Amino acid sequence: MLTDKRILLIVAGGIAAYKTPELVRLIAKAGGSTRVILTDAGAQFVTPMTLGSVSGDTVYDDLFSLTEESDMGHIQLSREADLVVVAPATADLMAKMATGLATDLASTTLLATDKPVMIAPAMNVRMWEHAATQQNLQTLSARGVHMVGPEEGDMACGEYGMGRMAEPAYILAAIQSFFQASNRLMGQRALVTSGPTHEAIDPVRYIANRSSGKQGHAIAAALAAMGAETTLVSGPTNLPDPAGVHMVHVQSARNMLDACESALPAHIAVCAAAVADWRPADEAASKMKKLPGEAPAPLSLSENPDILRTLGAAGNKRPGLLIGFAAETDSVVENAQKKRLSKGCDWILANDVSAGTGTFGGDENVIHLVDEHGVEDWPRLSKIAVAQKLANRIVDTLEASR
Ligand code: C5P
Repeated sequence: MLTDKRILLIVAGGIAAYKTPELVRLIAKAGGSTRVILTDAGAQFVTPMTLGSVSGDTVYDDLFSLTEESDMGHIQLSREADLVVVAPATADLMAKMATGLATDLASTTLLATDKPVMIAPAMNVRMWEHAATQQNLQTLSARGVHMVGPEEGDMACGEYGMGRMAEPAYILAAIQSFFQASNRLMGQRALVTSGPTHEAIDPVRYIANRSSGKQGHAIAAALAAMGAETTLVSGPTNLPDPAGVHMVHVQSARNMLDACESALPAHIAVCAAAVADWRPADEAASKMKKLPGEAPAPLSLSENPDILRTLGAAGNKRPGLLIGFAAETDSVVENAQKKRLSKGCDWILANDVSAGTGTFGGDENVIHLVDEHGVEDWPRLSKIAVAQKLANRIVDTLEASR
């Protein structure tokens, strides 16, 4: 139920805008109320009259309207809601949100709000896949913006792919779970590792891998959004620090282990980092020189500590729920099952990182969750959606064990 919850719904200009009166109706049926801001482009797809009738309120559309501003200014609009929902969130409005543009009532309100924001993206598949949109999505997600959808399917433009707005019933479910979830990890301490590690060869060279940190960062953001006191220990990435987490930047596996041990005790730990298994045995104190005619010096390696395994064997300091990842290229589930036991963790999220899957460094993931009961196959999801699904499963498990 959404009893007494106030939703500020921002309707931007996409064909999916025609579905928003249904969303307003569903929110009302669940006990909530909706106030609507409609952009000029949104008004091409759904009328203010329709949205006004279903919400039972004025529809706001003009930043410079004297009557609207005196009646209900954009600052007040942005502050009096419990949740701001942008549906459909177009590529254009997401770009404005990511860069902080305030060119109309919708974008100005989004810049002025201090309330949680949820977006339901909707756009053509190529616009969705464009690097600019994906980068904006990362920025918004790192700031703690919640996502619902998009879905895969036929598009109004005749193409097929990712970019359809989530159905109103699904958006309503996301709004309901947002209100249920926002305090569900209150009082819990979480530790997340993310990114690659850099293992120094000399002061300027290092061994690393292609991990982007997207999955680990998204998990930390999702746990923090649910109220967990979250420490994110990350190797070097190009990502912004997620909102609301205690961030610890590290370089090597040994730094990462130290930072993780300092972050204990934790109720939850998720090891999503792609930690280098090996490091150069001796880090040269000065830059190694290439001398004419001389063969390259052999690089001898030492084994790095296994952070997940160390946490799994930490006795009374072992996190209550310990979760690892397994990037595999073959026999994905079988190897993950073995890994769960050998590392002493509770769950393994296994994913196929074979060439062509695009998982390593990409934006999507196909997860097989292995726990003591068996295997759960998840559909292909964005890494942000994987993080939300994992956070929900963590909450359900902790609540069931209480
Ligand atoms: O052994 P493998 O690298 O496949 O194990 C993957 C899991 O173990 C991931 O959760 C990863 O974060 C963790 N790991 C670790 N320290 C290492 C190697 C892996 O925490 N040195």
